[in-house]
Amino acid sequence: MPTGPTHFARRGSALLTAVMLTVAASAWLGARRPAPATPKPRHYFTREWRPAMGGPAGLHYVGANVCLTCHTTYGTELGAGMGHASDRPVRATILRRHPRLRVTLDHDTYQVTRTPSGRYRYSVRRGRQRVAVLLSWAFGLGAAGQTYVYRRHGGYYESRVSFFNQPRGLDMTMGYGPRPPDTLWHALGRRLPPDEAKACFVCHTTGSYLGGKFRPQRATSGVRCEECHGPGSAHVAAMRAHDFAGGFHIFNPGNLNANDLVNFCGSCHRTTMTVLAMGVTGPLDVRFQPYRLTLSECWNPTDSRIACLACHNPHKPLVTQPAAYDHACLACHVVKGEKMTAALRKTHPGPACPVATHDCVTCHMPKVHLPGSHDLFTDHDIRIVRPGAPYPG
Ligand code: HEC
Ligand code: HEC
Ligand code: HEC
Ligand code: HEC
Ligand code: HEC
Ligand code: HEC
Ligand code: HEC
Repeated sequence: MPTGPTHFARRGSALLTAVMLTVAASAWLGARRPAPATPKPRHYFTREWRPAMGGPAGLHYVGANVCLTCHTTYGTELGAGMGHASDRPVRATILRRHPRLRVTLDHDTYQVTRTPSGRYRYSVRRGRQRVAVLLSWAFGLGAAGQTYVYRRHGGYYESRVSFFNQPRGLDMTMGYGPRPPDTLWHALGRRLPPDEAKACFVCHTTGSYLGGKFRPQRATSGVRCEECHGPGSAHVAAMRAHDFAGGFHIFNPGNLNANDLVNFCGSCHRTTMTVLAMGVTGPLDVRFQPYRLTLSECWNPTDSRIACLACHNPHKPLVTQPAAYDHACLACHVVKGEKMTAALRKTHPGPACPVATHDCVTCHMPKVHLPGSHDLFTDHDIRIVRPGAPYPG
């Protein structure tokens, strides 16, 4: 997309989708057996595969509510950030709280309004002309922003304006240039090429993909259990029958080593390979945590103490107290004044901080403004931040 808008999310995604599809089925079969004799198909994961991209024929999605009948303590995931990565408009909190949104950009007035029947109409008016559609999806929790997706002529379109939290209201969607659109339909939004629409759904919804086929009408809201663990029908059947002989029949990312795990989360949050393929540099790449993390001196592909799960539980909401992350740093770093022994050096390869003993992330993982997003992201390139030094990378 050299001339069109570039929601920088996208460029790597066609490549990513293709790669994931080619390896999905065989990776599934290899990955699932807990039996020690099965070799670990490590190379699949480094290519950004994840189970939601497919699996053996005959599996289907059962929905998070079924998972929760047994895994009763996992309910918080549904209310956590990723669980709301998308919603049908009627359930989207932002739209429910703002039944009428309005902004004027380049003489075009955009509105999102609730209709008497409870649906959401998205329109743009220029002088006396006006075009309108009904929204199909709201993408994004809205921590930074929320973009709308609608159907027209059998394809999916992305809204040219999005909701932003700071300041609260509509503004131009990230990646759209200032040039005013020629027609009102172009002002309303952009048609997503099929590969891009697919990528959008695969990262933000659950169950849109099965048996190598993209079925957006089957998608359910948010990134939920089976988008990370794969379609659960075989697992549920086996567990209900108390049949443990053939393994659990479900993918557990907890078994991945640090490198594979970062690529697993990176299949949505973007891996190094994807970011390099996209060619994004400067502060625009701060939102790609897997890529940023691997730039840090702390990164070690064979040490799980520095992989995503050392700091995040994907089943729980994001923790925002800096002190809560100290334990992760201090798993490797000694603290000032601590008596260094040979044994300690082996388990703690990181030197002590000469400045402080707690709240490490406040200084070493600064919040960076992401241009166009009206929001701050946490730089996962853990480092010494010198005042005035340029953003590295
Ligand atoms: C009928 C009850 C039941 C249902 C429904 C169920 N599970 Fe399980 N699940 C179990 C049991 C039992 C285990 C094995 C013991 C354990 O880890 O708790 C298990 C284990 C797991 C594991 C760990 C597997 C491993 O390799 O260690 C994952 C991941 C998992 N379930 C996810 C899910 C998801 C996702 C769903 C919904 C699609 C689901 N479960 C539905 C009973 C169930
Ligand atoms: C299927 C795609 C997908 C996978 C796989 C995935 N994520 Fe996410 N994640 C998302 C999306 C989309 C959002 C943005 C939600 C929003 O703001 O709308 C998100 C948001 C988050 C957030 C912020 C939540 C908040 O409350 O602001 C954290 C933390 C996170 N993910 C960590 C992880 C970790 C760790 C992994 C790997 C274990 C992972 N994610 C795997 C898609 C994914
Ligand atoms: C490769 C996976 C991927 C693709 C493809 C993708 N996204 Fe995202 N998107 C994410 C992740 C992960 C986040 C959370 C981190 C961030 O904000 O970058 C996110 C964040 C967002 C946000 C901001 C959410 C918030 O809470 O502020 C919006 C809006 C959004 N995406 C819309 C879209 C739309 C619309 C498309 C398709 C045109 C799309 N995304 C394609 C993974 C993806
Ligand atoms: C964003 C990806 C993601 C989503 C969504 C997700 N999980 Fe997980 N799940 C993981 C990861 C990563 C692990 C391994 C780390 C851990 O055990 O927490 C895991 C582990 C598990 C385990 C095994 C725990 C163990 O002790 O081995 C179960 C059971 C499970 N998840 C159930 C669920 C259920 C039920 C849901 C939906 C309510 C869900 N997960 C949603 C990523 C996810
Ligand atoms: C050493 C700890 C650490 C590790 C490892 C880590 N994170 Fe984070 N992450 C944080 C902290 C701290 C925040 C900021 C929390 C806050 O205050 O909002 C954060 C925030 C996030 C957010 C919210 C958006 C943002 O950038 O602020 C996402 C998404 C995220 N992390 C994903 C990941 C993924 C994916 C991985 C693995 C590649 C990962 N993180 C590894 C500490 C870590
Ligand atoms: C897996 C172990 C591990 C973890 C976890 C870890 N680090 Fe490190 N860190 C290291 C190692 C090893 C070095 C490099 C030491 C060297 O080469 O001198 C390092 C270097 C650093 C440096 C110096 C970087 C530079 O550019 O000179 C800082 C600052 C730092 N770590 C802070 C942190 C903070 C803050 C956390 C938690 C958010 C953390 N580390 C988590 C292992 C770790
Ligand atoms: C108030 C800000 C602040 C906090 C909080 C902080 N640091 Fe630092 N840290 C610094 C600064 C500034 C330096 C650079 C000192 C210098 O080189 O003069 C530094 C240096 C370091 C180094 C490099 C040491 C070396 O010998 O190369 C490491 C490692 C480190 N910090 C880890 C941590 C850890 C782990 C924590 C939490 C326990 C932490 N820091 C908390 C500001 C902070």
